[in-house]
Amino acid sequence: MTDKKIFKYIYGKPFETDAAAENITASEGLPPFVSVSEDFLHIAYDMTSNDKIYGLGEAVRGINKRGWIYETYCSDDPMHTETKRSLYGAHPFIVIDGKEVFGIFVDYPDRVIFDIGYTSVNKINITVGSPDYVFYIIKGETPMDVVKNFRKLIGKSYIAPFWSFGFQQSRWSYYTSDDVKNVINGYRDNDFSIDAVYLDIDYMEAFKDFTVSEERFPDFVEFVKLVREKNIHLVPIIDAGVKIEDGYDVYEEGRDNDYFCKDESGNDFIAAVWPGKVCFPDFLNPKAADWFGMKYKTLIDCGIDGFWNDMNEPAIFYSEKGLEEAIDKVLEYKGKNIGIYDFFGLKDTVLGLSNSFKDYSSMYHNTGSGIVCHNKVHNIYGYNMTRSASDAFKKISPEKNILMFSRASYIGMHRYSGIWMGDNQSWWSHIKLNLQMLPSLNMCGFLYTGADMVGFGDNCTEELALRWLALGIFNPLMRNHSALGTRDQEFYRFENRNAFRNLLKLRYALVPYLYSEYIKSIEKDEMMFRPLAFDYRGDRFAEAVEDQLIVGESIMIAPVYESNSIGRMVYVPEDMLGVSFRSERDYTIKSYRKGHYFIEIPIDEVVIFIKKNKVLPLVDSADCTAHLDYSTLRFIGDIEGKCNYTMCRESGVSDGRSIIAKENYEVVGTGHCDDLSFGKE
Ligand code: GLC
Repeated sequence: MTDKKIFKYIYGKPFETDAAAENITASEGLPPFVSVSEDFLHIAYDMTSNDKIYGLGEAVRGINKRGWIYETYCSDDPMHTETKRSLYGAHPFIVIDGKEVFGIFVDYPDRVIFDIGYTSVNKINITVGSPDYVFYIIKGETPMDVVKNFRKLIGKSYIAPFWSFGFQQSRWSYYTSDDVKNVINGYRDNDFSIDAVYLDIDYMEAFKDFTVSEERFPDFVEFVKLVREKNIHLVPIIDAGVKIEDGYDVYEEGRDNDYFCKDESGNDFIAAVWPGKVCFPDFLNPKAADWFGMKYKTLIDCGIDGFWNDMNEPAIFYSEKGLEEAIDKVLEYKGKNIGIYDFFGLKDTVLGLSNSFKDYSSMYHNTGSGIVCHNKVHNIYGYNMTRSASDAFKKISPEKNILMFSRASYIGMHRYSGIWMGDNQSWWSHIKLNLQMLPSLNMCGFLYTGADMVGFGDNCTEELALRWLALGIFNPLMRNHSALGTRDQEFYRFENRNAFRNLLKLRYALVPYLYSEYIKSIEKDEMMFRPLAFDYRGDRFAEAVEDQLIVGESIMIAPVYESNSIGRMVYVPEDMLGVSFRSERDYTIKSYRKGHYFIEIPIDEVVIFIKKNKVLPLVDSADCTAHLDYSTLRFIGDIEGKCNYTMCRESGVSDGRSIIAKENYEVVGTGHCDDLSFGKE
């Protein structure tokens, strides 16, 4: 099938990224709407004023990407302002929906520039900086069709373990096992549902990967066991940089076996991150990747069954060379009356110390079949770190499905893990950005994803926390995470505990639906989160909506993302049933005809819109996913006649992957009802 829908073009000698899971024969002759100059890729496409452009995965701005210039380049940058061109993930895939419907995937592991109506309002210009690249044109009748064909090309998405659909609490600064215990008690004692607590860099000994501080986390194995007995999973962070320290086994093994990236003289490339000076494992070297992957065993043997890979763009705070240059420059101006432009230059030099192009140019990989400069393969470093872990998990513990998600990513990594949306801020605009990234990431195969709920940087407010939670309950990865030094934002710390408790309970009541829709989206290569434009093609109002989403087969969400709101405008694209939940058992139902409405949404409520003749399954909530009781299943919906619903459940694990069991229900109704009769087929 793919041969007819997908056209592959190869130029020069491209680096094999492994983004595509299927090997397609290269096509001859370009489609008429694409022009390519031979020295470097330059795809030019003329849009009509109505064309909409989707995709680019993790990126700033709207669902429709038109009107900005983006660069797919894994960037450690927590300031997700509109002006940025790249974030942590690199996802060079777009869908054009207009007079022609097709997708473009530029499989190129260095920077790709997507100018989408920025330089010239009706032009798309895509450029890469070398003559060695692959790109694909993906055809389809509709944008969804294009996405499906693309997803077939790049392979099935990773399936996260069922428990990871529970709520997860994180914070950078849980320094001791007592801190972690207090957080668990804070949730459990207040009857707040929870499944996981995260261990940020503070759990390690001097920020050394695969170590645990004996002083702050004594008897770690016993601690993990104790926490598991409370149905809590601990999820430690793993950073890309390995601390340089004699006597530290990971460092010494890496050094002695030449598993680290090199500099131009063939010495280990050295830069500074959290632990101070580090070396970076050469994940493009298969032997080094195997070696690092097996290191996770240390923690898996302690009972750990989930990880997050971080700083794997890779983030660099500074290199010795960069620092020396900056210090020289600062000293040069010492005691002088600095001209303003010189001062700006000086400031740029200091600010530019981190993640500098110059440093990346001094870093080299040995792929086994040759040496390659990091600059040429920057975007697949985090991908290969995460793949190395995922491959190792199957060897270390095939009987478990181990949770894995990463910060940096590239197309193809979705086969091995999820991603989180990186270091955002406790800003209202980042609630909306969370919503807008969900469909874009789904297009690229990243289905297990979510933002740092309530915001990573900056101080949150109780109002922001509740509004963000009202969106967070739909994110597959539902994690509250915050940075060191920011205001505490564990949900039990706020005044209106009832509201937080009830929304958390609602999440758990929704888990059977969310998990089922997640699994079905993976199996069918579809998107769990869709812009209204995808489901209501030809409806010009639906096509313009940027702040509502269709979630799975049955529902639409329209969260509030502005402060001091009493509600919001909602476009109802077909007749729907609006259910205003105060808690899983306390809700009011109202029918809406297609149209625009101002809907009142008090701070402690979530409104879910159910499509006509579709159903929303709910179960009674529980303190954790392991205690969800599917015998309490009920369905809400507006059904005339019959409707079928397929429930997906994790029934075991084989070869590190969840085994999925399906249950088919036939639901019968005569108009809207919150307790429809149903039977198993
Ligand atoms: C990075 C991560 C963040 C983490 C911090 C400390 O900024 O993105 O999630 O908390 O490092 O490890």
